Parts: sequence; C-alpha cells; structure tokens
Amino acid sequence: MSKDFKTYSWFKRYTKELSIRKTRTQDYRTNSVVALKNINDKYRLIEKSTTILDLGASPGGWSQYVLEVKKRTSSGTYKVVAIDKLQMESISGVYFINGDYTDCNFQTRLEVEMGMGLTIKSSKFNLILADVCSSASVPRARCVDKAGLESLLAFTSRFLSKKGKLLYRFFPQYREAISELFKYYFKFLIFERSETSRVGSSEMFVVCSS
Ligand SMILES: C[S@@+](CC[C@H](N)C(=O)[O-])C[C@H]1O[C@@H](n2cnc3c(N)ncnc32)[C@H](O)[C@@H]1O
Repeated sequence: MSKDFKTYSWFKRYTKELSIRKTRTQDYRTNSVVALKNINDKYRLIEKSTTILDLGASPGGWSQYVLEVKKRTSSGTYKVVAIDKLQMESISGVYFINGDYTDCNFQTRLEVEMGMGLTIKSSKFNLILADVCSSASVPRARCVDKAGLESLLAFTSRFLSKKGKLLYRFFPQYREAISELFKYYFKFLIFERSETSRVGSSEMFVVCSS
C-alpha cells in the first residue's frame, strides 16, 4: 500500500470522525441520529414527506431529528407520529402513541386515531422510519427473526401510502432475509451501510419504495 493511499485513508477517517463528533454535540437523545442524518442527507426522505412515522421511537432521538428537519425545511403542514411499546418523554410537535405495533388491537386503534385525531390529509404515512431492532434482541447466531420481519411488512402494507417509503435499520445478518422477503412488497430496495457514532459499526439501512 502506498504512503499516499495510507495518508488519504487516515484523512478520510479523521474527517468522518469530526463530522460525527459535530452531530453528536447537538442535543439529541441518541447518537444513532448520526446514521439517520447521513442517510437523509443522501436521499432527502424527510424533506420529501409530510406524514412521517417514527416506528420504535423511544427515547426519541430520531423524532427530534425529523422534527428539526421539518421545521427547518417545510413551509406547509406536516405530521410526525412516534410509536413505541416503551414510554417516551414528550417532544412538542411529535404525536406519541404508546403500544406494540405488531398487535392487531393497537393497529385498529392507530387506524382510528389516524382517521380522527391526527388531522392530516392522508390516512396513511408517506414515510416510515423503522428502528425496532435493539442489539439485545439480535441473535448472535445467523438465524433470522423472519416473524419479526413479516410483522413489520404487514404493518407497512397497512399504514404506508402507495408511493410511500420505508427506511429500515437492521443488522447485517438480516440482509439476505430482507432481500428475499421485502422484494414481494417493494419494487426498489437500496441497501446502505450506516455511518454511526461508532466508526466501523455494522448496522445497515434499507430504503424501500414501490
Ligand atoms: C434502538 S431503539 C430506537 C431508538 C430511536 N430510533 C432513537 O433514536 O431514539 C428501538 C426501539 O424499538 C422499540 N420496539 C421494538 N419492538 C417494538 C414493537 N413491537 N412495538 C413498538 N416498539 C417496539 C423498543 O421499545 C425500542 O425503544
């Protein structure tokens, strides 16, 4: 390896760390906002959407970031909804619903709330940001929680608008299963390695659309 190449690699890593530190110093509840920000900078998913669901939202870092982007860039109306089975400290401007999104009764309740309480034009979301995996729930072995993926897809089919997009954060051992299952629901799948606060971290994103 040439000296120039080594120096260039070091410089790239250094500038990446700097940009991560810069984002971290802002007042978000989680560092994974860095990963969301990097993906959003590339695809402008948040800017292009008016009804956004943060699925698996607690403690609320992504919701904070979504709201910040909308406040900065949107002149029209928009709605940010957050769902989690855990409680979440409230964020002014984010409509939080506490419950398990895989539960049928919860989905019925959500449908009713969307129709009545949310005062948004669309009864469906045009962007779902799903961050429902925690490292504790991911098996170390290569087995994949297909039921979990199917629940997510069933939920998405019900609540994502026809031209809507799903952004899903996952761990690499799911990639094959995701390609296999998601292609029945979405026409386009774009896989991205996430640049998180931990450089070299193995999380990934998939951007899904029809
Ligand atoms: C990694 S955390 C999300 C962190 C969030 N993106 C942030 O930046 O603050 C994953 C969340 O998904 C939630 N979750 C997992 N399965 C869920 C389910 N079936 N229904 C609702 N929430 C769920 C967990 O309770 C957890 O709070």
